[in-house]
Amino acid sequence: MSSADNVMDKLVSLAKRRGFVFQSSEIYGGLGSVWDYGPLGVELKKNIKERWWRSMVHAREDIEGLDAAILMHPKVWEASGHIAGFTDPLVDCKHCKNRFRADDPRIKGTPGQPDAQCPVCGTKGSLTAPRQFNLMFKTFMGPVEEQAAVIFLRPETAQGIYVNYLNVLQSSRQKIPFGIAQIGKAFRNEITPGNFTFRTREFEQMEMQFFVKPGTDGEWFERWRDERMRWLVELGIRPEKLRFHQHTPQELAHYAKEAYDIEYEFPFGWHEFEGIHNRSDFDLSRHQQFSGKKLDYLDAGTNERYLPYVIETSAGADRTALVVLCDAYAEEEVAGEKRVVLRFQPSLAPLKAAVFPLVNKDGMPELARRLYDGLRRHFNVFYDDGGSIGRRYRRQDEAGTPFGITVDGQSTQDQTVTVRDRDTLKQDRVAADRLVDYLVQKLAG
Ligand code: GAP
Repeated sequence: MSSADNVMDKLVSLAKRRGFVFQSSEIYGGLGSVWDYGPLGVELKKNIKERWWRSMVHAREDIEGLDAAILMHPKVWEASGHIAGFTDPLVDCKHCKNRFRADDPRIKGTPGQPDAQCPVCGTKGSLTAPRQFNLMFKTFMGPVEEQAAVIFLRPETAQGIYVNYLNVLQSSRQKIPFGIAQIGKAFRNEITPGNFTFRTREFEQMEMQFFVKPGTDGEWFERWRDERMRWLVELGIRPEKLRFHQHTPQELAHYAKEAYDIEYEFPFGWHEFEGIHNRSDFDLSRHQQFSGKKLDYLDAGTNERYLPYVIETSAGADRTALVVLCDAYAEEEVAGEKRVVLRFQPSLAPLKAAVFPLVNKDGMPELARRLYDGLRRHFNVFYDDGGSIGRRYRRQDEAGTPFGITVDGQSTQDQTVTVRDRDTLKQDRVAADRLVDYLVQKLAG
């Protein structure tokens, strides 16, 4: 087993043990590459999404929010190019019936030729020649399952933004340059999913489309590329684990004029988790052509009419959460004992603090409960009175909880508690009635 497998195995097991991520439909044997977020995972992902929304929508005058439906008119996907071009080359093994991407590195020989060997059953000559497989999930709208009723689950949220571009422009009274941001589910029938939540069939995207005057697109592209990297570093991700990858002409998506990936060094290597794309006027011109509706912009100042160019920032909420998890994971030795800790930036941590009575007697549980009830009104906090205090600290270290509040013998005398810092392991003694202020200050810093 390689050390990368080892770290990922430990992370997957911790994610299940502590309630971050569970396999979908596990009691039925699981559903391939679909995952559910447990009590801590849902908080982590929500904190990331809220941070993104705040920085994109609330903190800026020039970006509006949108929540478009997952189901869209089927013509959208003709216009966007997804019906014709959102495909992967696929080969089948006629013997064991497994399916692979044609470029699967495990395949020996050329699929379709007698020398090709199936990587699962090992049969020679059983692999079909590659054929294109569309990654969109199909379903039917209405009661009749016929070709005319076929619709798709969206494979990206971006199209919901393009088809609403005029609605948002007119209702918000924005002027170009301006953007529209959206967070929502997307679906792709990936052929080779894997690496935990990295490549899944159902996932969430955080996308922003910024509409600009043609000719200014190069400058906006660079601005957004730098801005997105700055945001990720602010999230507490180690800068040395982040890098840009510029797409070569062969790598560019059908809509892109220029593109950068932001990659993270996962335990299984450098991989993309966010993209910044110059989509030119590809999408708006295609929707204009397919819908017959004029989508050009009239600049009231200069009386110029043009179809805006689009700079897109496209991040996966699940992949960003996986980056945050991988980056936070640490194993270390404390006083001769091994501990596993998730060093989340406190603002992202699912639980902000845990409250512990040192022992379950002498008035300690009553005071601890009272403090817990008070803190719950301000933060997501946890109460734990099970096991030794050391074991309770360890559990919260694994959950990434930044502060551990212990009610001890002294607390019932002078109404003070100890607050243990997850990272420095230092303990402060804090007056119980100052705890909220203390945590507010620490969580902001
Ligand atoms: N609108 C542009 C677009 O969708 P993309 O590079 O195909 O571009 C953007 O996807 C982001 O969505 C990726 O960087 C990744 O974070 C996330 N993503 C894409 N496919 C995914 C999958 N199968 N599982 C998890 N996340 C995925």
